[in-house]
Amino acid sequence: MSRRRVAALISGRGSNMAALIAAAKEPAYPAEIALVLSDKPDAGGLGFAAAEGIPTAIADRKTLGSKPAFEAAIQRHLAAARIDLVCLAGFMRLLSAEFVASWHDRLINIHPSLLPAFPGIDTHARALAAGVRLHGCTVHFVRAATDDGPIIIQAAIPVLPHDTPDSLAERLLPVEHQVYPRALEWVASGRARVVDERVVVDGIEGSTGVLISPTAAS
Ligand code: GAR
Repeated sequence: MSRRRVAALISGRGSNMAALIAAAKEPAYPAEIALVLSDKPDAGGLGFAAAEGIPTAIADRKTLGSKPAFEAAIQRHLAAARIDLVCLAGFMRLLSAEFVASWHDRLINIHPSLLPAFPGIDTHARALAAGVRLHGCTVHFVRAATDDGPIIIQAAIPVLPHDTPDSLAERLLPVEHQVYPRALEWVASGRARVVDERVVVDGIEGSTGVLISPTAAS
């Protein structure tokens, strides 16, 4: 099967995007990053992608005026690049139900919490405030509700006594970089399928949850 053409949508530094680009350098990887699109012209990840020779595009929410115009611009870029799958990689805009429906089971997101806990923003501070002992990240198919949808993979890290939102974020980020490429591999190869709004990964009978020990995660 030919490699699936993937767009990474970013808003900032794009470290998860970079992890996907690195994974896709492996010839056997079932996806190629064919487009990096940002809603912010100054997103740091755009320069990295361009230096890697990956086409980049900007759909600037500010200059495009309305949300429908913004989403139409994104759709035009995705169509022009013949994109099969879309990965949200630190893309900090909420997409409309219409947009999400048009990419049903072809749109995935990474979120820095163990969903359904802590959808939305400030996940690390909220996890600390709640006193949870495990925190983590989730890669999931996107549905219309914010940070909702069938879960592909999760990874959990321990919350340590002296953690701050920044230290938690710093320890979680490399874990995100491990699991997002794995989730995309499963989706792009067709191994991950949605059955009754749950994800089945062919060949994996056990959990697709990953537990990171304190030392492994630091
Ligand atoms: C990541 O931690 C990602 O999980 C999070 O933003 C960060 C982006 O970093 N995403 C969200 O909060 C989406 N709701 P990156 O630009 O270096 O990949």
